[in-house]
Amino acid sequence: MPRILTGITTSGTPHLGNYVGAIRPAIAASHAPGVESFYFLADYHALIKVNDPARVQRSTLEIAAAWLASGLDPDKVWFYRQSDIPEIPELTWLLTCVAAKGLLNRAHAYKAAVDRNVAEGDDPDAGITAGLFMYPVLMAADILLFNADKVPVGRDQIQHIEMARDIGARFNHLYGEHFTLPQAQIEEHVATLPGLDGRKMSKSYDNTIPLFCSRNELKKLIAGIVTDSRAPGEPKDADASNVFELYRAFASTEETAAMRKAFAEGIGWGDAKQKLFDRIDAEIAPLRERYETLISEPARIEEQLSHGAAKARTIATPLLVKLRDAVGLRNLSAKATMEKPGKPKSAMPQFKQYRENDGKFYFKLIDGEDHVLLQSIGFASPKDAGAVVARMKSGSHAPGTFDSSIVRLAGVDDADIVEALHRLQQGD
Ligand code: TRP
Repeated sequence: MPRILTGITTSGTPHLGNYVGAIRPAIAASHAPGVESFYFLADYHALIKVNDPARVQRSTLEIAAAWLASGLDPDKVWFYRQSDIPEIPELTWLLTCVAAKGLLNRAHAYKAAVDRNVAEGDDPDAGITAGLFMYPVLMAADILLFNADKVPVGRDQIQHIEMARDIGARFNHLYGEHFTLPQAQIEEHVATLPGLDGRKMSKSYDNTIPLFCSRNELKKLIAGIVTDSRAPGEPKDADASNVFELYRAFASTEETAAMRKAFAEGIGWGDAKQKLFDRIDAEIAPLRERYETLISEPARIEEQLSHGAAKARTIATPLLVKLRDAVGLRNLSAKATMEKPGKPKSAMPQFKQYRENDGKFYFKLIDGEDHVLLQSIGFASPKDAGAVVARMKSGSHAPGTFDSSIVRLAGVDDADIVEALHRLQQGD
């Protein structure tokens, strides 16, 4: 059965944007037949951003309660807290030792932080922790430990999934096929909600509506949504309105069509906001009640999480036993002790440049096992050969691009060449 895995960083209070964009679709997906769903509270990831212990604890409680209140059924899915699974940091280290530093250098979040420092004239690494740098490796461990097939993510996380694939493939290459390589599942149809000020609802813009605030608070926040100053009776453009966009995220097709008509007919902002409040509250009220019960008994949530961890470790613990053995962390009395170490795999493909007896300059690309993947034609100077190598390393990998400079070798697949160039480019 395909496995779907999602982590939720426990760094804040769940808001309506999280509900519409992540919680609601994920729970709906978990009810689909024929899939196995994994949801976990990524509290180790939270430590990368948050240094306030009370906030990490509170957020973990709130997010666990929010998912349970929204209908997550811990008997049907795998639901656990990252820091309850010691195999995750253990695997993180095993992966750290095969992850290319050059790959991590290119992570968007790390690079953006460096770029900001440089733009401000600071030291490039000012204020950047090794935790931020290692974030993708921890995330790869989360995913690979459970051999997840699909990871539903927003666009900003696609690179992390690619890195998990890369790191997993590298480990498999060195130590045998242990990991499924995950795929990102992009949620195209899921709405991103506008926040109170019309920008995307996000904690970093401070424009959120908490998922489980009181009814009064909800009403007050909705009343404060920024709108234009059109008076009641003036037609309003539904498609340009965040009130409408929020309404649509909660309403049926018919309700949405009726609201669109009301906008065209000049519904006043006060009335539109009242309808928005009623619609959201109708969906959230029963959840809110469950949430309040849950959050008033944290010990029960704690118990559910430790139950979930025990269950998750039925997968994690045996896998780590295998992985420790695979990398050579072994009982010393086992037979391999005196084995001669094998030839280390030079996993990295390489370009080699050389001169032949004809006086011309050549290069070839070899894979990690010294197989020749391609061979160049002869060039008049080493510079000419080097220029083609540089282009192959940095440019497009489409087969055919370099046909005029290389000799295709029988028995070598284009795919192997593309893969080797890709790995070289990744610095991996
Ligand atoms: N990085 C994810 C986010 O910020 C959270 C996360 C941590 C995650 N580990 C994961 C998501 C593993 C999917 C799979 O949203």
